[in-house]
Amino acid sequence: GGGRTPLIAGNWKMNLDHLQAVAFVQKLHWTLKDAAHEDGSVEVAVFPPFTDIRTVQTLLDADKIPFALGAQDLSTKDAGAYTGEVSGAFLAKLSARYVIIGHSERREYHHEGDEIVAEKVQAALRHGLVPVICVGETAADLEEFGAAAVPVGQLEKALDGVPADADIVVAYEPVWAIGSGQAATPQQAQDVCAKLREVIGQKLGADAAERTRVLYGGSVKSGNIASFMREPDVDGALVGGASLLVDEFAAIIRYQK
Ligand code: G3P
Repeated sequence: GGGRTPLIAGNWKMNLDHLQAVAFVQKLHWTLKDAAHEDGSVEVAVFPPFTDIRTVQTLLDADKIPFALGAQDLSTKDAGAYTGEVSGAFLAKLSARYVIIGHSERREYHHEGDEIVAEKVQAALRHGLVPVICVGETAADLEEFGAAAVPVGQLEKALDGVPADADIVVAYEPVWAIGSGQAATPQQAQDVCAKLREVIGQKLGADAAERTRVLYGGSVKSGNIASFMREPDVDGALVGGASLLVDEFAAIIRYQK
């Protein structure tokens, strides 16, 4: 909605090694040869595991494939004695444009709370990366507080100290919809995405609210993408499972047809 360029983002999670990644990206590009994303009307981004990023970057460059590249996480720190961590500086050098922050799987399995999420947002911005800030309520939250309260609170904290002109993306992913086959309804997604846009307005101002893309994620597939994209405050999708299937992901990217 709102004249913002739609963003269709594929979060591969811990799937596809670097060789599988090459085959996948080549096939996807081939399948999309004639598609709208080539004229820039839809932006496509892929989020491979860290070990694939260099390989995928080389392929995108060599074949002039117009997909943006993103990472699934980054360190709060820039460099130093932090075994196992990957810095935003390294990701920026590989031409990563985006980085997912605060995915519910990181919040759940790695105990990342709102403070770490906010630090990671700052780390991304320090290195010129666009944070894709994920927020969303669990099934229990939904029952207790309704849909919007938890994601709104998460986003308020993630945006603390973010400058008004920052380039960010927000993704609303209700935890109960992730990988469950039970997507939110377009109306549910619209309601929460509109509230998240209000938060962006309160924290960063009206310009940021107008410009920032708010995505929906959770069991998006080719059969439901168009209904989400019709909503005025849904500017794209963060896709998990269906982003690993060439024909399915290509059909999602071509949702307008
Ligand atoms: O980040 C995207 C993701 O969590 C949604 O996963 O498999 O429900 O599309 P899926």
